[in-house]
Amino acid sequence: MTYSSVVVLYFLSFFTQAQNTIPEVEALLSKMTIEEKIGQLNLVTPGGGIATGSVVSSNVEEKIKAGQVGGLFGIATPERIKKAQDFAVNKTRLGIPLIFGSDIIHGYKTTFPIPLGLAASWDMELLKRTAQIAALEATADGINWNFSPMVDISRDPRWGRTAEGAGEDPYLGSAIAKAMVMGYQGDDLTAENTMMACVKHMALYGASEAGRDYNSVDMSKIRMYNDYFPPYKAAIDAGVGSVMTSFNDIDGIPASGNKWLLTDLLRNQWNFKGFVVSDYTSVNEMIAHGLGDLQAVSALALNAGLDMDMVGEGFLTTLKKSYDEGKVSEAQITNACRRILEAKYKLGLFDDPYRYIDQKRPAKDILRPEHRKIAREAATKSFVLLKKHNNTLPLKKDANIALIGDLANDKTNMLGTWAPTGDFKLSIPILEGFKNVAPNAKISYAKGANITNDSIMAKNVNVFGTTVVLDKRSPEELLAEAVAVAKKADVVVAVVGEAKEMSGESSSKTKIQIPDSQKQLIRALVATGKPVVLVLMSGRPLVIEEEMGLPVSILQVWFPGVEAGNAIADVIFGNYNPAGKLTATWPVNVGQIPIYHSIKNTGRPQPTETFLKFKSSYLDAPNAPLLPFGYGLSYTDFEYTDLKVSKTEIAQNEALSLSVTLKNTGNYDGEEVVQLYLRDVVRSITPPNRVLKGFKKVFLKKGETKTVTLDLKAEDLKFYNANLEFVAEPGDFEVFVGTNSNATQKASFTLK
Ligand code: BGC
Repeated sequence: MTYSSVVVLYFLSFFTQAQNTIPEVEALLSKMTIEEKIGQLNLVTPGGGIATGSVVSSNVEEKIKAGQVGGLFGIATPERIKKAQDFAVNKTRLGIPLIFGSDIIHGYKTTFPIPLGLAASWDMELLKRTAQIAALEATADGINWNFSPMVDISRDPRWGRTAEGAGEDPYLGSAIAKAMVMGYQGDDLTAENTMMACVKHMALYGASEAGRDYNSVDMSKIRMYNDYFPPYKAAIDAGVGSVMTSFNDIDGIPASGNKWLLTDLLRNQWNFKGFVVSDYTSVNEMIAHGLGDLQAVSALALNAGLDMDMVGEGFLTTLKKSYDEGKVSEAQITNACRRILEAKYKLGLFDDPYRYIDQKRPAKDILRPEHRKIAREAATKSFVLLKKHNNTLPLKKDANIALIGDLANDKTNMLGTWAPTGDFKLSIPILEGFKNVAPNAKISYAKGANITNDSIMAKNVNVFGTTVVLDKRSPEELLAEAVAVAKKADVVVAVVGEAKEMSGESSSKTKIQIPDSQKQLIRALVATGKPVVLVLMSGRPLVIEEEMGLPVSILQVWFPGVEAGNAIADVIFGNYNPAGKLTATWPVNVGQIPIYHSIKNTGRPQPTETFLKFKSSYLDAPNAPLLPFGYGLSYTDFEYTDLKVSKTEIAQNEALSLSVTLKNTGNYDGEEVVQLYLRDVVRSITPPNRVLKGFKKVFLKKGETKTVTLDLKAEDLKFYNANLEFVAEPGDFEVFVGTNSNATQKASFTLK
């Protein structure tokens, strides 16, 4: 290369860099002292929300006035937010506005089902709509930055935060990540009804060893790239404005100090242009991880590419010293500050720091009746019919019903975990919902059992208010009352499962069955000989082998949100025919975990479920799960026939379309999620037996037949190979289409 071409290149690259920067932000940066820049990297919470660590911020007001705060979270309402913004805008030298964050995980005041439930709808438009409503309501209360979506893949239902994500699958998880980001951010971040999203937790948080929260992660790069990274990347490709790091380590370095993760991958490979915030005190926690003192871990984090420090104040209290000692450079501090200022710019806060602060908006935009309508619809769409028995469901609206269970007449648990902005008092108990939807039914209620009889468990889950109350009556008295009520009814509906904080953050469990107190209740109710319907609540896949073997119908309802009772009644009484599908595999027992559908064949596959020596299997359990990924029944039945591929041979970069005939053969109109799975028969690294590569939700009237088409894009054939290149390798492929991951309609094609 000649000298002059090097000079041209240098100026070109300088020019493109300059083009990508925002002049207003650069002008501001040029005026800022190093202390002011460090101040922007500090994110604090003044309390009043949920503190998810042992530390909360102090002297917030003084710190804002001293220019030591870049953003606040956990505060709301135009009055409070205006007050804080006034301090920043009027009392600091440069008047830089604050950004206001919050955890709006499944709705703001209008609480939707928990994310694992929303995912079970497989309805991307609906998910996007819930995110739009969350953004409208939250921005009405002054918030402009949301710590959502949580897209961590989870294949271990012991992990309590399974509730907060979309389940086990990278393809579905990516579609949901994209829908949520688009819903929150819209196409104009400066609009008063959109907010900046923050995809979390980068990365691999859902793979904590043994499902124990905050535990270590150790994973091959091939698995990271193929199975765990896609949803984060999908959020980034959809333009997410910020990323939150995770608590766990990856290859021995916690995410918040992991340069490979935050710089090489996120910025250099994925081209992420937004800012990265730590999780709650996760910078400080690198001390406990064993990486040094606060100054050392804070410098490590900044050098790794972390921009904002949540709550821990390691940046605020040590970065200047590290700078003076040459351990971090001014350029690094400036870069982090630039990214945070750019986010504020993109939100329109430099034009108007009070853009999201309007006293009139809360009354106008929060809890609009149409939002509750969507919450009800979303809940009905999240439910998964796990078992049908003797056509007990749907119930007649004039039935004589025994409604049993602590959760059946409860408001405190309906919103589920991570709903700090919601108000449980607004939620509809199931008993009330039954009366609303079926006013002519005869409904008798009995508690039947405590959610758990274990007082220590009750204490541990009653952290954010009391949701488990141990009755003054003995378990025997409770049971006897319920059995007596059941005997007088024609049908029993028992609402059983977890209390809301039995899943969620720091709620990992090693026993994931229905609590013993309620298992006993179920047995006693079944023993009455009455038809029994179990309405099952949980924030994770449960072990329900015993219950699946009983003569009962089972409807999984997760935690349905503010419209819980009405939505459950809609489905129980047949106003809506359930169509949800599991997005995480349900194991036979805890010993099968980790468990997921896209398993590999191994060199010694077990041909059937009969144990064979020297095959990959268990002596004491099947390999197959209790309920496969994608599983879910309907009041009607569907029949799949005639799967066809548009071509049996395709070239690289060519797409393919498939068609299948779907018939509603049952007695109800209904929806079905048609699922497409792909198997790459031979490739350079061992392929999974099948991976999800498409889905479509279709409605069919009873008796109706439809041809459903699905597309396989050229990209769907690609995977990350041993060199982590994203490639499609020539050879044979098989496709399976059907009602869940055991889909049996099969076709094949060859990639040339
Ligand atoms: C959680 C995050 C959350 C943050 C702020 C942490 O404990 O892991 O998901 O966004 O707290 O509330």
